[in-house]
Amino acid sequence: MDSIRNPFKTGVLWPNGQSGFNQKGGVGKTTTSLNLAAALVRYGHKPVGIDLDPQAQFGFIAGITARSGDDSIFSLFQRNRPLREMIQKSSNGIGIIPSHIELSKVDALYGKGYNAINKLNISLQAEETQGENRHWIIDCCPLVGVLSLNAIFACDGLIVPMSADYLSIKGDIQIQKTLQALERVLKRRVNRRYLITRFDSRRRMARDVLLKAEAAFGADVCRTLISENVCLAESPSLNKTIFEHAPNSRGARDYESLLNELIPDCPLGHKTPVLNGFLMESIRDFPYFSMRCCSNEQSGLIADGFIR
Ligand SMILES: Nc1ncnc2c1ncn2[C@@H]1O[C@H](COP(=O)(O)OP(=O)(O)OP(=O)(O)O)[C@@H](O)[C@H]1O
Ligand SMILES: [Mg+2]
Repeated sequence: MDSIRNPFKTGVLWPNGQSGFNQKGGVGKTTTSLNLAAALVRYGHKPVGIDLDPQAQFGFIAGITARSGDDSIFSLFQRNRPLREMIQKSSNGIGIIPSHIELSKVDALYGKGYNAINKLNISLQAEETQGENRHWIIDCCPLVGVLSLNAIFACDGLIVPMSADYLSIKGDIQIQKTLQALERVLKRRVNRRYLITRFDSRRRMARDVLLKAEAAFGADVCRTLISENVCLAESPSLNKTIFEHAPNSRGARDYESLLNELIPDCPLGHKTPVLNGFLMESIRDFPYFSMRCCSNEQSGLIADGFIR
């Protein structure tokens, strides 16, 4: 991860399925965003989750909802409101910038030109100049558009989750092409790691998907697999992270392992607050987010329509 530009900005943007631009996601990006943020809290960090999905599920699960668009990340696009003014503290220790349904208007209202897709990047840079060493985890919507592109532009790396089924792998190959198209515009590599979610080792299909992912993405595939786990499925309805709902579950162990893989200096079971820069340094290698796929043609459109 030599080319990571900034140690503290990670995003979760991602796609699912193959060609369906409007297809529902459901590959586990909100689950991953929330539980990785929760794992960071266990290690003494104060991560901020930005809910960049108009479905507003990240904030909802964490118990934070916006009363209006102005109370949400929408106000960044509407009036350049500073991020720090929008952070709300959830009971589980994660700072949340909530979403609101008004966010779905962003493409129509502000969706043209480089400025529109660079807003989050500029705002995060402004936060850094304030000396705030936070981890930012951005949960994206399952569509390519202004919101997702803001996340890609702002972050140091992506986690691209894929559920362990055949459609997901096809979708992620399209994502790869999208990222390659964006890289030509950005003139840098977009760091990414592919994360297999909902893995059931008893299913041959899941094992096949893992092999195919390794063949397609090599070392970019996370070694950690997120298992299909009923506690992970239950916890959103209880407005809890997996560590609150079932700390000894397979799901909790998987997300803790993922954090340990992404931040190798974070030993399993170590939960004391980090008071020096040691762990904060190691977070440089924390590439967290996923993205929604689109076709080659759509990639071209993105490059032409939004960026140039
Ligand atoms: N490893 C898992 N085991 C069991 N259930 C899971 C797992 N990961 C996610 N789920 C469940 O799958 C559903 C979809 O997950 P999630 O909301 O995280 O997906 P998403 O990619 O954010 O979807 P969207 O694209 O709609 O935002 C949720 O009900 C969640 O609880
Ligand atoms: Mg989601």
